Amino acid sequence: MRSVASFDQLARTYAALGGEDLAHLRRLATSWRMLADLCFSDLLLLVPVAGEDGHRFVVLAQVRPTTGQTVYPTDMVGTIVDEVERPLVTRAWRLGDIVVGDTTVLGSSERARLQCIPVRHQGRVVGLVTRETATASGRRPGELERHYMGAFERFARMIADGAFPFGREEIEPQEAPRVGDGVIVLDVDLRVLFASPNAVSSLHRMGIHSYTSGVQLAEVGFEDGAVLTAVQARLPVTEEVERGASSILLRVIPFLEGGRSAGALILMRDVTDLRRRDRMLMSKDATIREIHHRVKNNLQTIAALLRLQGRRLASDEARAAIRESERRIRSIAVVHETLSREATDIVRFNELVRPLVRVVEESVATPEDRLRFDVSGDAGELPGEVATPLAVVLNELMQNAVDHAFPRRDGEPLKGHVEVRLARSGDELVVDVVDDGVGLPEDFSLERSMGLGLSIVHALVTGELGGSIEMGNDDGARVVVRLPVAPARRVDL
Ligand SMILES: Nc1ncnc2c1ncn2[C@@H]1O[C@H](COP(=O)(O)OP(=O)(O)OP(=O)(O)O)[C@@H](O)[C@H]1O
Ligand SMILES: [Mg+2]
Repeated sequence: MRSVASFDQLARTYAALGGEDLAHLRRLATSWRMLADLCFSDLLLLVPVAGEDGHRFVVLAQVRPTTGQTVYPTDMVGTIVDEVERPLVTRAWRLGDIVVGDTTVLGSSERARLQCIPVRHQGRVVGLVTRETATASGRRPGELERHYMGAFERFARMIADGAFPFGREEIEPQEAPRVGDGVIVLDVDLRVLFASPNAVSSLHRMGIHSYTSGVQLAEVGFEDGAVLTAVQARLPVTEEVERGASSILLRVIPFLEGGRSAGALILMRDVTDLRRRDRMLMSKDATIREIHHRVKNNLQTIAALLRLQGRRLASDEARAAIRESERRIRSIAVVHETLSREATDIVRFNELVRPLVRVVEESVATPEDRLRFDVSGDAGELPGEVATPLAVVLNELMQNAVDHAFPRRDGEPLKGHVEVRLARSGDELVVDVVDDGVGLPEDFSLERSMGLGLSIVHALVTGELGGSIEMGNDDGARVVVRLPVAPARRVDL
């Protein structure tokens, strides 16, 4: 099938098909790969051109076998097939039953065997499946071929009876087992008629060595819950069975005869390696999260130790220095705390801003102070290596506003407003920290400023982050930090 659009388009344009009939044919075309593999042949889905009484048909979909050679190396979808070329097709359509005969391969002179299967839906024939096999090889089929063909014939009967595809929308997961992965055919008493070599290997991996043809699967220790469900519900069932270190994915498709279950086909795939990889990936993420968690805990311990040490100091200056170091460490801990909750090394920076504000508030403010912090805009997602220095920068700038913008008059509470504005556009992130305080000193210059806070900001922004800083006065001080950032994307570790 080229695409759903061309499938639907062809069906509407040529065959005036729609609604339930079309949905039935679409379901067939999403679940028939298994059929092509079972019969080692190409399958075409044909629908009659509307108003021509079965004289011409259009190819709606095509599937090639992965178990055999294709007779159609070119795309057949959209091809018109007429009665002269394919009298058997018209016969099957008018008869409403399976017709088999000799023919030549479409578009060549090679001899071929043609089987036409009417597709019945709610009692009416709505299309045809044709199976074409070059008859050149005179090789006698082996046991595997005979059983696969037998299974195919049962499904062909079901198509003609309207029992296949099943009524439920079949969404084939990427990893769904295929015929080549392993096949078990069960008879009406759910006894094993045949197991393909790959299926036998999977059974071995499940610890089942005592398998012989003719046994019921439960007798040899096979968990047959999925089989029983499929047979009772008369619907396909997919289930994963874990045995020791092995994971086997099963897909059980019941054979239906006259509305009754009459055995089943089991496709089985050993997905042990796939699952092991899934688990490894999962544990890698978990490990990274755990590391962030521990780094955060360690940083908080260091901050707490500094606080204890600070309390023992007599000098105000020394105490203030220790307190600032503590605050800087806490601002880094905020980033690791957030990263420890993420599945990747990416954070939504806005989620960090509130905790950072709290670090600043806790470091200076007393309950009487009236300091208001407002955060606006969106910084988007940032990788940890950008978020960490930026958190430290933002922390210093907010701290400066608190320290310098609103001088404390003896005993009076602090009063002021600090705004953090975040804006991300394309490949630039702009962070504005604006206060309504006294403003920067008149002779202030960033280059000549000797404070540790702005030295850290300068070093991180221009060095590590490759950005720029502007400082000036509006109502109070205003600092604008600009950073180049990669356009929003996921960064894989
Ligand atoms: N928001 C602001 N309002 C007024 N002045 C500011 C503001 N931010 C910075 N300044 C001025 O810039 C100077 C340098 O700031 P910087 O952060 O480098 O050092 P500090 O805050 O004095 O000391 P440290 O941050 O190392 O504790 C400050 O002393 C202050 O005079
Ligand atoms: Mg400072």
